Amino acid sequence: MAEKVVLAYSGGLDTSVAVRWVKEKYGLDIIALTVDVGNERDFTTVQDKALKAGAIKALVKDARDSFVNHFIMPALQADAVYEGQYPLATALSRPLIAKLLVDVAREEGAQAIAHGCTGKGNDQVRIEVGVAALAPEIRIIAPAREWGMTREETIDYARRHDIPVPVTVSSPYSIDENLWGRSIECGVLEDPWTEPPSDVYSWTKSPQDTPDEAAYIEIDFDQGIPLALNGQKMDGVGLIEQLNQLAGSYGVGRIDHVENRLVGIKSREIYEAPAAVVLIEAHRALETLTLAKSQLRFKQKMAAEYADLIYNGLWFSAHHQDLAAYVQSTQRFVSGTVRLKLFKGKCSVAGRKSPFSLYSCGLATYDKGDQFDQSAAAGFIHIWGLPVRTQAQLQQKATARKDEGGRQ
Ligand code: ARG
Repeated sequence: MAEKVVLAYSGGLDTSVAVRWVKEKYGLDIIALTVDVGNERDFTTVQDKALKAGAIKALVKDARDSFVNHFIMPALQADAVYEGQYPLATALSRPLIAKLLVDVAREEGAQAIAHGCTGKGNDQVRIEVGVAALAPEIRIIAPAREWGMTREETIDYARRHDIPVPVTVSSPYSIDENLWGRSIECGVLEDPWTEPPSDVYSWTKSPQDTPDEAAYIEIDFDQGIPLALNGQKMDGVGLIEQLNQLAGSYGVGRIDHVENRLVGIKSREIYEAPAAVVLIEAHRALETLTLAKSQLRFKQKMAAEYADLIYNGLWFSAHHQDLAAYVQSTQRFVSGTVRLKLFKGKCSVAGRKSPFSLYSCGLATYDKGDQFDQSAAAGFIHIWGLPVRTQAQLQQKATARKDEGGRQ
């Protein structure tokens, strides 16, 4: 009996060709695994394709709940956004896919795992480092990195081997989708001077085609986790799906990012992430109310570190465990409601409230009811400014004396 390999299978051209190629080149039996992370597709067709291309088995795993609860929500609590722009949709899905590949490999007694990533991207790193962390004994095969075929040659290979070439192959873009967002690259987007053509977008309306009246929405959080939309409780998957729909229809969530890949390349990427943009904005707003200044400052630094770690494929690292523990601790009082306004491609915070709010009207007000003892400010300033005054007096005088001495 031939040895087995579990292939991460999307149903696209590259992974379909990979089924055939790995079988021919390595003589292995292919088990195709398609992971549903909210990339809404017709999975029966995907399974059929895998079997037609030569897989001995085609599995589909619905991983949406797990993706939301164990990957998206922790990233949201951390406010993880790569280089200040990218909410990390693709990056977050890869460690989960790696985990499921390993699970299936163990269930099926496979010795190897294969993926269709090229040698120029981040995804190969994320999947392979993930697999290595969970199952160091498993061998990795990366056909698209090994075969050295151009796009045309891949299409040609598919035709020769009777592998259906999807019509979408004519699309000039490379697209990856899941609940947290849609990533688009290649084609005209490779010129960072070129404005993305409208056919790049599919989740978001162009702001000029959106309603002339703003929509107001309210999101309830409990310990940093969004639980309800407009007062209606719902699970994470449903909430994110609804928000993608709603915010997308107001043109919210378009991102144009020239990003720094882990492999050293700069890449121009377009993202559509309506729910992510809204939820991150809302979550941050609630944190401004419920975290102290020092907590906020430190957490912001941590957010950049956390985003880098996700982007760079280090989800299953001890460093991540440590940062995650810190983030969890910060969320104890991040509960309350945020009111947002969606209008012509923009999402802005209109209001926020929390039973644990640190905001005190009595302290902030300039009106009646002021509880702040203004006379105490004089003493505070005296002591706060003490080192500055001392240094100015002693060293500025000394500098002046030296200057005078120099001129003599
Ligand atoms: N640049 C993004 C990342 O590294 C997205 C890559 C997604 N892949 C794609 N085929 N568009 O996470």
